[in-house]
Amino acid sequence: MGDEVMIILTGALGGIGKELLKHLSKIDSVIGVYNSSLLKDTANSKVMYEKLNIEDPQAIRSFAQKWKGRLPHLTLIHSAVFNIDGLFASYKEVDWDKVMRTNVKGNFLLTQALLPQMIQEKWGRIIHISSVVGVDGSVGTACYSASKTALVGMSRVLAKEYGRFNITSNILTLGYFEMGLTETLKNDVKKEILKRIPSNSFGEVSDIAHAIEFLIKSQYINGSVITIDGAFQ
Ligand SMILES: NC(=O)c1ccc[n+]([C@@H]2O[C@H](COP(=O)([O-])OP(=O)(O)OC[C@H]3O[C@@H](n4cnc5c(N)ncnc54)[C@H](OP(=O)(O)O)[C@@H]3O)[C@@H](O)[C@H]2O)c1
Repeated sequence: MGDEVMIILTGALGGIGKELLKHLSKIDSVIGVYNSSLLKDTANSKVMYEKLNIEDPQAIRSFAQKWKGRLPHLTLIHSAVFNIDGLFASYKEVDWDKVMRTNVKGNFLLTQALLPQMIQEKWGRIIHISSVVGVDGSVGTACYSASKTALVGMSRVLAKEYGRFNITSNILTLGYFEMGLTETLKNDVKKEILKRIPSNSFGEVSDIAHAIEFLIKSQYINGSVITIDGAFQ
């Protein structure tokens, strides 16, 4: 592998994405994909920003076409997420569809659109961001949990179908980081979460970045699930 790695990070202006972007731009060039966020602080020369709604198949096709042939050694990191909590019995179908469309279908469409370039380059890294909530199941998160667990199955299949092209697909299962989705939780909920983490602290985004760097460099780590949760119990 040569030096240039191009990283595409979705959810790049979200809570975790924004921090991750700073770390990843030290590794190589990054295309930061955002949707509705206001674009500001764009001074980092290693980062290019792209507005893309991952619910829109046509926009995804145009995005892939625009970057065709310009993505040597592509690492695709799916961090974009949409969540609506609610108890199972009263959960609205419309909310279910929206959450699944972003978290699962958007991931599928973007991966599928960029896969031909990875196959052509005979190199690719696909990294899906899942959550301990998907594994553990917590009250009011049936749809979010289902969407995050779905990624595990999808990732393992990708690993098996495209490993022969030197393309790997892995999952990072995150615990709690005090930003983005976790920031929206009430203080007493956060206190209860901290009690379940031996270090009594939330995660640092640098740990996610280290895992990504490790996966970029690793060819034989494929179809794996790496948990970054501080031994949340
Ligand atoms: N925060 C945590 O503690 C935690 C814990 C476990 C797992 N995670 C996982 O970590 C990842 C990042 O989470 P986060 O907390 O940073 O979430 P976040 O702050 O809500 O950010 C998510 C981003 O996803 C983007 N997005 C939503 N719908 C989109 C669409 N249709 N098209 C393109 N982008 C879209 C949004 O972009 P715009 O703002 O530009 O619309 C948003 O900034 C997620 O996969 C989440 O499941 C987070």
